This record gives sequence, structure tokens and C-alpha cells, in this order.
Amino acid sequence: MQKRIAIVTGGNRGIGFEICRQLAAREDIRVLLTARNAASGQRAAVSLQETGSDVHFHHLEVTDQNSARRLVKEVADRYGRADILVNNAGIYPDSGLRVADLDLGVARQTLETNFYGPLRLCKHLVPLMQRHAYGRIVNLSSRMGSLNKMGGGALGYRASKAALNVLTRVLAAELQGDNILVNSVDPGWVRSDMGGSSATRSLAQGADTAVWLATLPDDGPSGGFFRDRQPVEW
Ligand SMILES: NC(=O)c1ccc[n+]([C@@H]2O[C@H](COP(=O)([O-])OP(=O)(O)OC[C@H]3O[C@@H](n4cnc5c(N)ncnc54)[C@H](OP(=O)(O)O)[C@@H]3O)[C@@H](O)[C@H]2O)c1
Repeated sequence: MQKRIAIVTGGNRGIGFEICRQLAAREDIRVLLTARNAASGQRAAVSLQETGSDVHFHHLEVTDQNSARRLVKEVADRYGRADILVNNAGIYPDSGLRVADLDLGVARQTLETNFYGPLRLCKHLVPLMQRHAYGRIVNLSSRMGSLNKMGGGALGYRASKAALNVLTRVLAAELQGDNILVNSVDPGWVRSDMGGSSATRSLAQGADTAVWLATLPDDGPSGGFFRDRQPVEW
């Protein structure tokens, strides 16, 4: 059986780690757990390998063009295919900050990680997906990027997730007919380092819709924004 290759960014902890765990529980998927911190990424991958999962660590700093190029080359050389990309890595450094107090450097770094990181990977991995006429791209967005629900504070984070949603829509339109399905997911408020201990959802709940989107059948949706496997407003 030729396994599907799934690449997950920020897989060393939080929702990304749980997505790796759930994807790797499927017999037909090999998970490439990527992380910018090699020690932490290796540890996470080994902990899943110990449960019998087919998980391999690869280094990836999503803001670094060379790191992304290296990963894509490794994937192409070693596996010859990329079937699933989960753009999970993200930062939220401007929580609670109003525009007047926001450092522009922090806003730029947030866009660099949460938007340009996924854009870079999509750009380089889509050709590999097209080679086998199969692809599932899942962008970890947030209701904070929803224009309909836009409120004050955290402009960098909100803008990065709104831009990520635009990436979802544009790519989905461009790839129509290629069997590459591109969707955004709002995981809800999840108990991770980012979400904090008061959050209402477990990591498993937070990962569920992303894993569903990563494993959609060929006639599944594309260009959508989902929460709890249901469409939500942009
Ligand atoms: N938690 C929530 O309530 C919630 C709600 C809505 C959306 N989300 C979204 O869900 C995703 C995962 O969130 P989470 O709660 O699991 O966050 P988290 O616990 O803070 O984990 C973030 C992950 O992203 C990685 N990362 C950050 N910058 C990176 C970079 N430049 N290169 C590579 N990896 C990088 C981190 O790696 P390090 O360990 O090296 O820092 C870590 O693995 C994010 O996109 C977030 O915006 C979360």
C-alpha cells in the first residue's frame, strides 16, 4: 500500500501534535511531524512512534525560506509525493493589545508566521500534489480572522488569519478540478499553550475538524471555512 504523506507544521506541541497523533492513527497515512525546535520535534515524534505510529520528524521553521525549500526537497527526494499539508504553526503575540499599543514589528512577525509561512509551503508543495492529482490543504485559522465577527484588539493576529482565509479561497479557486481541496478551520477555544487552561475544548476536539478536512474524499468541499465539521461565516 502506498501511504499518503501528511506534512504538519508546528507538530511538536498543542493542536499540531494532536493532529499528528490522529492522522497517524490511520493505516494509510505517514505523518511528517515538523517543528522549528529539533529536540522538541524529535521528542514528539518518538513519543508517537512508541505507540506504533508511522511518524517522522523533519525540521521546519516556517518563516525561513531556506528551511521551507530544504523540507520540500527532502520530501520530494525521499517520498516523491506530498498529499496532505496542515498549516498549523502559529503565534498570537498581540493578545489583548489595541492598535495604539501594537509594535509593528510584532504585527509583521505574526503575518510572517501565520500567513507567509503557509503561503510559502503551499507554493512549493502544490506542484508535488499535482504530480499525483491529489492534495488536501488545511489552514488553521480562527474566528478572530472572520470579517463578520471582527472586534477590537490583536490586529496582527486577526489580519494574519483573515489573510490565511483569503489564501484558502484563492488557492481553492485556482486548483478547482485538480483534486486538491483547500479549506480553513476554526478549532474553537482549545486548551493549549496558546489557548490557556481555561479554554473550553480539549486538544482532541480542537484537532477533529482539521483531521476531517485533511482526509476528505475526492467529492469533499473546497474553499470553505469550518468549525465542528460545519461551515461558518467568513
Ligand atoms: N488554541 C486555540 O484556542 C486556538 C484558537 C483558534 C486558532 N488556533 C490556531 O491553531 C494553531 C495551533 O495553535 P495551538 O493552540 O496549538 O498553539 P501553541 O500551543 O502555541 O503551538 C503553536 C505551535 O506553532 C509552532 N510555531 C510557532 N511559530 C513557528 C515557526 N516560525 N516555525 C515553526 N513552528 C512554529 C510552535 O513551535 P514552538 O514549540 O517551537 O514554539 C508550536 O508547535 C495556530 O495556528 C493557532 O492560531 C488556536
